[in-house]
Amino acid sequence: MSIHIGASEGEIARTVLMPGDPLRAQFVAENWLTEVHQYNDVRGMLGFTGTWKGERISVQGSGMGMPSLAIYANELIRFYGARRLIRIGSCGAIQPEIDLHDLIIAMSASSNSAMNRERFRGMDYAATAGWHLFRRALAVVEEEGLPFHAGNILSSDTFYDDDPDAWKVWAAHGVLAIEMEANQLYTLAARHGAEALALLTVSDSLVTRAELSPEDRQTSFHQMVEVALETARRSEALDRD
Ligand code: HPA
Repeated sequence: MSIHIGASEGEIARTVLMPGDPLRAQFVAENWLTEVHQYNDVRGMLGFTGTWKGERISVQGSGMGMPSLAIYANELIRFYGARRLIRIGSCGAIQPEIDLHDLIIAMSASSNSAMNRERFRGMDYAATAGWHLFRRALAVVEEEGLPFHAGNILSSDTFYDDDPDAWKVWAAHGVLAIEMEANQLYTLAARHGAEALALLTVSDSLVTRAELSPEDRQTSFHQMVEVALETARRSEALDRD
C-alpha cells in the first residue's frame, strides 16, 4: 500500500499505461486486457493489471495536470517497481499541419510549470522521452502506417488561459501540441531510473479551433491504445528474454 494506491507489492506490472481519466483505465482493462484484476480505487483513481498478448501490463489513471500525475508516477516507480510508464492522452495541436486524430509521440516536453523550476532552482531541464520506448513506438506506428508526428510538446499548468495567444511563442519554436502531464512524467522517470513515453491523440487545434466529436475521440483513442499496448508488449517481451 502507498498513500494513493491501495495495491500490494507485486500487483502492478513493470509497464503501466497511464490515461488521465480513470474511466479510460477501466475501458482499456475491460476491452483489451484478459485476466484483469483491479488493484486500486483510492480516490476513484482506478488501476488494473491484466494480460495482453501474453504480457502482463497495468493501466492506471493519472488525473489531470502534473501535480496529480506526479503522485501516481512517484508511487508506481518508487513503491511498486514500475519500470516503464506510457501516458495515453489527448492534446491540442498548435501547428497548422497537424490534423485532428493525428498521433503525436512526444520526444520531449517543455513546460510553463513551476515544478521543474523548483527542482532545478531556476535552471532549465530538457524533459525527454525514454529512448527505447520512443523507438519501439516509432517502429509500431511506421509498421501500421498511422499518421503521426514526433517532436517537442508543451505540458501546461493551464487548460483555460486568460491570454488566448499564450501558445504562440511555443508554436514559433516548433512545439507541436499542448497537454498537461508529460513534462513531469519524463522528469520523474529519469529521476528514479525508469523510462517514460507520452502518446497523444490530437483532440483539438488551437490554430483552427476545430475539435473532435466525442465519437471521433473514441476512434483515435483506440488506435493510440493499440500502439501503446504493442510498445508495452515488445518491451516486456525483451525484458523476459
Ligand atoms: N490544452 C491543454 N491540454 C489539452 C488541450 C489543450 O488545448 N487539448 C487536449 N488537452
